[in-house]
Amino acid sequence: MDIKIFQSAQEATEEAFRLLAAAKEDGATTFGLATGSSPEGLYELLRASDLDFTDAYALNLDEYRGLPADHEQSYAYFMQDKLFKAKPFKETFIPNGMAEDPEEEVARYDQVIKNHPIDFQILGIGPNGHIGFNEPGTSFEVTTHLTDLAPATIQANQRFFESEADVPKQAYTMGIASILNSKQIVLMAFGEAKAQAVKGMIEGSVTEALPASVLQTHENVTVLLDQDSASLL
Ligand code: GLP
Repeated sequence: MDIKIFQSAQEATEEAFRLLAAAKEDGATTFGLATGSSPEGLYELLRASDLDFTDAYALNLDEYRGLPADHEQSYAYFMQDKLFKAKPFKETFIPNGMAEDPEEEVARYDQVIKNHPIDFQILGIGPNGHIGFNEPGTSFEVTTHLTDLAPATIQANQRFFESEADVPKQAYTMGIASILNSKQIVLMAFGEAKAQAVKGMIEGSVTEALPASVLQTHENVTVLLDQDSASLL
């Protein structure tokens, strides 16, 4: 793991942009994307850049079950709003939160990932150490699946909804095994609320109790931190 600690989230975000641009220059065409506040600044830099993604593919990590793509809190909406409207890709993929048959949807998305191996994967991290929506206790072997969200995740994401009751309780997510197949991974974590998870990810043992710790086993991972998220290292 290459750990880089910056004065601010903004500086760390600029490094994420440089890494993505360099990967693209080197031929990366398939980008694994994440939602949440951590990559928002990166998407802002991409929107303002002259990088062209019209020959590139985007695969998102996860989506809430039960939210349609036009729901403001769906990840499909987030991606349109923060990136795709301004920077069109050749094709973009995300699990369908409204799929009628979860098993079929999981199989469909696994096929999408198989057809489009990811060159460059962006990740955030949940305060409980989840990546995508791979919650603590999830096997490292699984690929795409439908998961129950951990109570801590529902609580952390409540700020985006009117009440806790409105937060979806399930989500589709790429599995750890799919994430580890990416050639290059860049994880961004900012703020004090991430400090404990960041410490466990970097200094703890590799354990399903802290899903992000599995990244220690991948050969090309860069972790970009600000002072607060790095404060316990
Ligand atoms: C959600 C997403 C994750 C994201 C995490 C952290 O639960 N499923 O992919 O990394 O939140 O979000 P944030 O960057 O807003 O802290």
